[in-house]
Amino acid sequence: MPWPAPAERRSPGQLARIFQRFGAREAPQLSARLYAALCPAIAADDDLLAVAASASPTQPPPNLLFGAVHYLLLDGRHDPLSAFYPDLAPTGSAADPLHAFPHFRDFVLRNRTQIETLIAGRRVQTNVIQRCTCLLPAFAHVADAAPEHALALLEIGPSAGLNLAWDRYGYRYHGATDARWGDPSAPVQLDAELRGAVDLPPLPANLPVAWRAGLELHPVDITNDDQVRWLRALIWPEHVERHQRLAAAIAVARQRPPRIVPGDATTDLASLLTEAPIDAALCVFATHALYQVPDECRQRIDAALQNAAQLRPVWFLSMEGTGPDYSQLFLHRCASGDHTITHLADCNAHGRWIEWRAGRPILPS
Ligand SMILES: C[S@@+](CC[C@H](N)C(=O)[O-])C[C@H]1O[C@@H](n2cnc3c(N)ncnc32)[C@H](O)[C@@H]1O
Repeated sequence: MPWPAPAERRSPGQLARIFQRFGAREAPQLSARLYAALCPAIAADDDLLAVAASASPTQPPPNLLFGAVHYLLLDGRHDPLSAFYPDLAPTGSAADPLHAFPHFRDFVLRNRTQIETLIAGRRVQTNVIQRCTCLLPAFAHVADAAPEHALALLEIGPSAGLNLAWDRYGYRYHGATDARWGDPSAPVQLDAELRGAVDLPPLPANLPVAWRAGLELHPVDITNDDQVRWLRALIWPEHVERHQRLAAAIAVARQRPPRIVPGDATTDLASLLTEAPIDAALCVFATHALYQVPDECRQRIDAALQNAAQLRPVWFLSMEGTGPDYSQLFLHRCASGDHTITHLADCNAHGRWIEWRAGRPILPS
């Protein structure tokens, strides 16, 4: 359902500033050369800004406009614009992004109705599988603290749920000492740089999971080709490896789709928590999801966790961004009134590197 009433749309001036900022800051930081090159020209083009104005006031127009164009190109059509997309052009042969704008403009205006419908009806929602490189050592840390118990895992905001299948992927960490985990022949292989002086915790070959589920406001159905295509369309065209990883992870997940319960963590977490087997080590986790929950509602998530901790220890693992390319991994442990917080790691927001810390508990504020 399209969401914005026209009166709520952004003005051309606001949109121009958003595209300028996206082109000058976000796109270069994320190695999105094509979008960085297109943004200044879009910001100066009234026709294209009018198309981008279909975006809901709560959604980022650049991601939606670029996503809608990419989504259409992903149907395999032969269009001159495709030559500028590294994920669509033959390997290493993408055309110079500095010459893309006339083709981009022509494509958007030719497909205007479809693009406006996509912009008005879709949301920006990704699933970064590479973040599993940060989850794995954190789960190993929890398993080490509760050696008698299998894990029960509940993810808040799993999007398509691809990170719930973290134990079906293979891992390699490169650093002063290298570490490997999982099946080296699994279709999804994740590599991360290990930074700093502290080794990862031991990664036992077997990390049994007794139960797992996701709780998601807007579940992405990985068995639905159209939803998968939109997920793919939101990945920058230059991130060819991410496209390949997503395709491989979708294939893995389609064999055994993750259980994702539609719902809002601020109201539905307590009820889902009651399903976790009581004899398992319950670990709730969220990666780049809590920043979307308004501060005043976060307390309800905390209350559900504290409530569950009256019956059993509950771990809560959060990975949230503290800078454009930088995140921190904190582990909370709640048990009958006790609450400790451990700063487990600093890491890249997309899990490309991780710096494990000594794991000294700090007191909650
Ligand atoms: C930026 S995505 C991150 C997805 C995934 N965790 C990852 O790291 O790739 C944030 C996800 O959190 C979900 N979300 C936001 N608020 C939520 C809430 N109150 N309850 C459940 N899910 C929520 C969004 O719908 C979205 O799928």
